[in-house]
Amino acid sequence: MKNTLVFALAAVLALSASVTTSRAQDAGKVDFEKQILPILKDNCFKCHQKEHEENGKKKKPKGGLRLDGAALIIKGGKEYPDENVVAGKPDASWLVKTMVLPDSDELAMPPEGKGDRVTPANIDLIKKWITEGANFGAWKGVE
Ligand code: HEC
Repeated sequence: MKNTLVFALAAVLALSASVTTSRAQDAGKVDFEKQILPILKDNCFKCHQKEHEENGKKKKPKGGLRLDGAALIIKGGKEYPDENVVAGKPDASWLVKTMVLPDSDELAMPPEGKGDRVTPANIDLIKKWITEGANFGAWKGVE
C-alpha cells in the first residue's frame, strides 16, 4: 500500500516536471541569429568564413567549410557535403559531431590548442536548434 503511494507521488512529480519542460520549450524556439550565430562567431568563424586577408596573409576557409551564410552552412565542407547540418538530426550533423569529439581526436573542433571548445550548454542549444528543424529565420548571412 505504502509503495503504491510512493509510486503515485513519483508519477505526479514526473508529470509536473515534464509539463514544466514543455512549457519552457513552448516559450520560444531557438533563434538562430540571436542564439546560435554568436557561438559560431566566437568559436568557429576564425577558420570557417569567406577567404580574407589577415596580416597580409590570405586565409582560406578550412576544409572548404564556411559558416558565415545560411546556404553555406547547409552546403557543408569538402568531406561531409550536405551533412554539416541535417535538419532534425543533431547526431548526424558534423557541425555538432566535431564539437563533441574529444580534444585528442583530429576532427575535434576547434582543433586542439587552436581555440575554445564550445561549452556543453551551447552544444545543447545547437542540438535543440537542429532538432527543431534548423531554421535560420530571416538570417541569410553571406550569400
Ligand atoms: C583554428 C582553425 C579552426 C577553427 C577555429 C575551427 N575549425 Fe573546423 N576545421 C579546421 C580545419 C583545418 C579543418 C579541416 C580538417 C581536416 O581536413 O583534417 C576543419 C574542418 C571542419 C569540418 C569538416 C568539414 C568538411 O565537410 O570537410 C567541420 C564540420 C568543422 N571544421 C566544424 C567546425 C566548427 C563547428 C567549429 C567551431 C566550433 C570549427 N570547425 C572551428 C579548422 C578550424
